Amino acid sequence: MVLFQQHSISPDQAKELEPGTPQWRATGGYVARSLAGIWSTAPFLHNGSVPTVYDLLQPAAKRPVRFPVGHREFDPKKLGFILDAPNPDFMLDTTIQGNGNEGHEFGVNLPEESELDLLEYLKSL
Ligand code: HEM
Repeated sequence: MVLFQQHSISPDQAKELEPGTPQWRATGGYVARSLAGIWSTAPFLHNGSVPTVYDLLQPAAKRPVRFPVGHREFDPKKLGFILDAPNPDFMLDTTIQGNGNEGHEFGVNLPEESELDLLEYLKSL
């Protein structure tokens, strides 16, 4: 609605452009980047606080708290960094201020099978 107002689009024109009730709204603040090639860009979220896409589809409380970064070991099932890389150079600790892995709890209540289907789809982007 805010965008329509900003661009002087009347309520009637807005209905034509977007019939029905919108399911999702942009936050108006932070624009998410395209998910094309997402399989290759771990770790995830703006602060790199989630090691795999699979973990991003879990509630924040279940996401890995510490994980190794700075290596090239890829987990093709969960789409991201493996969690048990040998001799990691650096462990990312999500309990440190600024490293939090909360938020983006979308798709976290999907049945496991649907999560895996979604992962397969994301691999194709
Ligand atoms: C099941 C549905 C969704 C999936 C599979 C999904 C997937 C993803 C992935 C993989 C990222 C990480 C991108 C990266 O780190 O480069 C991401 C980030 C993001 N997504 Fe989603 N998303 C979903 C739903 C949504 C919805 C509904 C919204 C908005 C209402 C949204 C907004 C965002 C934003 C703002 C970010 C950036 C967050 C950050 O960088 O901290 N997503 N999404």
